[in-house]
Formats: sequence, structure tokens, C-alpha cells
Amino acid sequence: AASTRYEAEAAPAVCTGAVESDWAGYSGSGFCNGANAVGAYAQFTVDAPAAGTATLKVRFTNGTSAARPANVSVNGSAATSASFETTGTWGTWVTKTLTVPVRSGSNTIRLSPTASAGLPNVDHLDA
Ligand code: GCU
Repeated sequence: AASTRYEAEAAPAVCTGAVESDWAGYSGSGFCNGANAVGAYAQFTVDAPAAGTATLKVRFTNGTSAARPANVSVNGSAATSASFETTGTWGTWVTKTLTVPVRSGSNTIRLSPTASAGLPNVDHLDA
């Protein structure tokens, strides 16, 4: 099926930090620069046509030299983890694929950093 794009900067998505647009190459009107703290998050509301497994493509950039690890939860339950590797510069956007369980209908997907450096800059999620 065709995928749907969920922008990190657009409601109902939630960015605990700042929506910014100072690094080019994002889709939509900007990206989520999450707070650089454990427990910050970028949250998406993703519709699934049926219960099962969803493939999420997260577009991000990490201009530091260290990966930024995060937990991924679905509807409040831990689903998987992700390590958002360095992309060299903040202007270099890449896509990471995550596989998570979903229920039929609306799902709350949250990316939350496990280290104080926080999340990478998050552009969107395709699901
Ligand atoms: C820089 C960069 C931000 C980024 C931040 C970070 O300030 O300009 O876009 O979010 O580093 O380390 O998270």
C-alpha cells in the first residue's frame, strides 16, 4: 500500500523541544529539534489499516560525531530501540527503517532519547 507521511512539525505530532527550519533539506515546513535530554520526545500519530507490523521510515539528521540512541514506544509500550547514527552534517538527511507492532486504527509512536544528547533532528515518518 502507499505510505503516508507524518511530519514531525505538524499536529497531531508533538515535539518536546523546538520546531526549527534552519537546516535545509527537510520536508514540510521544518523539523523537530527535540530537547537534548533523556525523556524528550518526538511523537507521531500513525494510522494502521489493520493490527500487525508496521514499517516506519524515520528521516533524520545527526551532525554530531556520536550516534544518538532512542527508545521507540507504541501506545505507551516499549517496541524497539534505534541508534540514530551520525550523518556527518546537520544538513545531511537520511532515513532509518523501524519495524513495530501496531493495532488497527490510531497508534501513538514515540521516539525518546536514552542519553542526554537527545534525539537527532527528526523530519518526518513515513508509514
Ligand atoms: C545544533 C544544531 C541543531 C541540533 C543541535 C543538537 O545546535 O544546530 O539543529 O538539534 O545541535 O545537538 O541537537
